[in-house]
Amino acid sequence: MTLLTLVILLLALTITTPLPQFLTTPTSKIAFSVTTPPTSAASAPPLLLLNGFGVGQFHQKRLVSSLSRSPTFSSIYTLDYLGQGDSWPLSIPPTTNLDSIGTSPSEANLNYSVETWIEQVHDFITSTILPNAESPSIAIAGNSLGGYIATILAKRYPDLFSTLILFNATPIWGGIFASSPLTNWDGVLPAPTLPRFIGKTIYDQIRDPQNVYTLMAECYATPLAHTSDRICEKIIGAASNNGGHAAFSSILFSPGAPEASQFHDNFLNTPAHKDLRILGIYGKADPWIDGRFSRRLFSSLQASGNLKNDNINLIELNNVAHCPNHEAATACATIISRFMQKTTPLLLQNEKETFVDEAWGGEHDAEEITTFDLPPLSTFFVDTLQRIAN
Ligand SMILES: *[C@@H]1O[C@H](CO)[C@@H](O)[C@H](O)[C@H]1NC(C)=O
Repeated sequence: MTLLTLVILLLALTITTPLPQFLTTPTSKIAFSVTTPPTSAASAPPLLLLNGFGVGQFHQKRLVSSLSRSPTFSSIYTLDYLGQGDSWPLSIPPTTNLDSIGTSPSEANLNYSVETWIEQVHDFITSTILPNAESPSIAIAGNSLGGYIATILAKRYPDLFSTLILFNATPIWGGIFASSPLTNWDGVLPAPTLPRFIGKTIYDQIRDPQNVYTLMAECYATPLAHTSDRICEKIIGAASNNGGHAAFSSILFSPGAPEASQFHDNFLNTPAHKDLRILGIYGKADPWIDGRFSRRLFSSLQASGNLKNDNINLIELNNVAHCPNHEAATACATIISRFMQKTTPLLLQNEKETFVDEAWGGEHDAEEITTFDLPPLSTFFVDTLQRIAN
């Protein structure tokens, strides 16, 4: 290796693998990263990428690395939610028996409701991202649960956001056992014995390596997309944290967000500023959040008349399942950059284009969806989801 190649390699590494950084509070340590694309303009907006459930910032590295080669954003941030990835309450000892779960001083009075994560992300934006940015607002993008959190934030704090990007955003989160008469627990730690036991039992099953591999087989259309990045191993590693059992129990029993019940037909119907731009990039092979969700969502956005029509774009990707940001990072980065630069049409040929993923070689056909005349979801399905959400 010549000195020149070594220098180039080191430069490339500094761009693509930002050092993990930590914010500490008296009771917790929060992991985040920031990457500054070498060619970006300081006046461009910063971008915050939010994760889905169970993963950490490692799930955004491919997208960060693709995006950082264009001048689209002034900086690109990733963040782990408390109780996920590398963000945890301080000094939790190993949980040797059921009684010790969730009882350390740093966990006292803590809950893992979606409200906690919404507050955490809001604080991160106002105290870390915006003070370091020239732009008065940011772009926010979220996969799965991250799309749900980003949507609620955009609805509550419209002035903070110029752009909302959704990758297979979930329409519901949490509240599964909230206010169950069986336990009557609101999710604030430490947990009573029964929910503590239920949470521990389910968590141990969920993080069992065999189950993680099965779940990833559903989350991805092509196994190589995640095995090439050892995603299962990284998920299992993060899930082994001493605080995992308590966090999961609290997630199960905490209430959902009050906005949740409106997410189907009135999704974001009342954003306070008409200039919010919304881009959806949805994997079509997602077994859960399929095209019926994305199209209904975008049709209600369009029908609301609250946003300018050319500010709303929906792209579907074939051969991609629940995590387009990771399974098709090249396609996502290209489409996002064009969207931010207001390039039209977004896709080159007749609202269609094929992308080859630079991280693992997968091929994805993208299609822009412009008409949303779909049969509605069966009322049973919607009712069930809404009941869960309520
Ligand atoms: C859970 O924590 C969030 C964030 O601190 C807080 O807003 C909420 O009120 C808490 N829930 C309960 C039931 O205490």
